[in-house]
Amino acid sequence: MHTGYALFALSPFYYFVTTSAHFILKDTFIGQDFMHGFNWETFDDPTHGRVNFVNQSVAVQANLSFASATSFIMRADDLNVVPPSARGRNSVRITSHNSYADSMIVVDVKHIPEGCGTWPAFWTLSKAGPWPQGGEIDIIEGANSQPQNMASLHTTSGCSVAQNRSQTGLAVSTACDASVNNNQGCGTSFSKPGSYGSQFNIMGGGWYVMQRTAQDGISVYFWSRNDARVPAVVKYGAPLIVLDPTWGAPEAYFPKDSCDYSTHFDAHQIIFDLTFCGDWAGNTFASSNCGKGTCEDFVNTNPKAFVNAYWEIDSLRVYTPLL
Ligand SMILES: *[C@@H]1O[C@H](CO)[C@@H](O)[C@H](O)[C@H]1NC(C)=O
Ligand SMILES: *[C@@H]1O[C@H](CO)[C@@H](O)[C@H](O)[C@H]1NC(C)=O
Ligand SMILES: *[C@@H]1O[C@H](CO)[C@@H](O)[C@H](O)[C@H]1NC(C)=O
Repeated sequence: MHTGYALFALSPFYYFVTTSAHFILKDTFIGQDFMHGFNWETFDDPTHGRVNFVNQSVAVQANLSFASATSFIMRADDLNVVPPSARGRNSVRITSHNSYADSMIVVDVKHIPEGCGTWPAFWTLSKAGPWPQGGEIDIIEGANSQPQNMASLHTTSGCSVAQNRSQTGLAVSTACDASVNNNQGCGTSFSKPGSYGSQFNIMGGGWYVMQRTAQDGISVYFWSRNDARVPAVVKYGAPLIVLDPTWGAPEAYFPKDSCDYSTHFDAHQIIFDLTFCGDWAGNTFASSNCGKGTCEDFVNTNPKAFVNAYWEIDSLRVYTPLL
């Protein structure tokens, strides 16, 4: 470790980075690792989605969760009509057994669930809670036919971000406090093409990186599959990652200036889920070119509309700061 550190100290980038910008690989999830490293949640969706989260045995049996040596897939039921009396369309929500405080999370995603009624998310949430204590960090999230990703924080009171900050995305809202603006949170809409939905999938997916440290706050980076600027350490899952200026500004940046990091964020678990309608996708369904009926009816009666409602993950790597 010390030898490695000395080498980095000699690099021309040294004066731009700090020790907390060195991250060492802690956990890797590829294929079956998800089956062992995550819990399949079965509670009612807290965001009121038209969904029935199933456990791991049901999910595997129905092929709603599938692992090969190189990929992991989570999907919605795309075969069955859902009776109005049922809890909702079968789908999956998984939470990591491990939790992480200061860290860098690198995910290589091939496919994001897309289509009318869908609301997928890749996010982290305080293990201790109860929400919103300890914070929520939404890394990948969107609803219906939304073209761009939205990364957001949801926190207890006393956390906000400036409208103008060093990020390439656009600040949509600046109050992170979950108790204001109907829990909109502080969200940044991404600007690079192909960050979400069908465009993300057509372009072959890409890499998302979320970095959080007490020193630098929270950043979310994105590179599409064919973006030549993706750092090799991200693309190839290097055992050690050093953040350097060639990464450029993140798409979303949540500095600690007006949001004390240690008060609002503690150790988080990692979550992937796919819900339908509910507090977000339900509210934007009518304005999303999804037809005239209600979101719930659409989800109940159109199983074939969910053929592309699946996550395909090539790898998930979690790094912790090298001190
Ligand atoms: C999974 O869910 C099914 C259907 O609700 C239930 O019958 C089964 O016992 C559950 N399995 C486990 C291991 O909890
Ligand atoms: C389960 O899903 C995977 C991934 O889509 C697919 O390759 C496989 O053939 C499916 N298995 C069955 C039994 O349908
Ligand atoms: C945003 O910040 C940049 C750099 O700090 C500054 O040059 C620019 O004028 C600011 N824009 C607005 C609208 O405040």
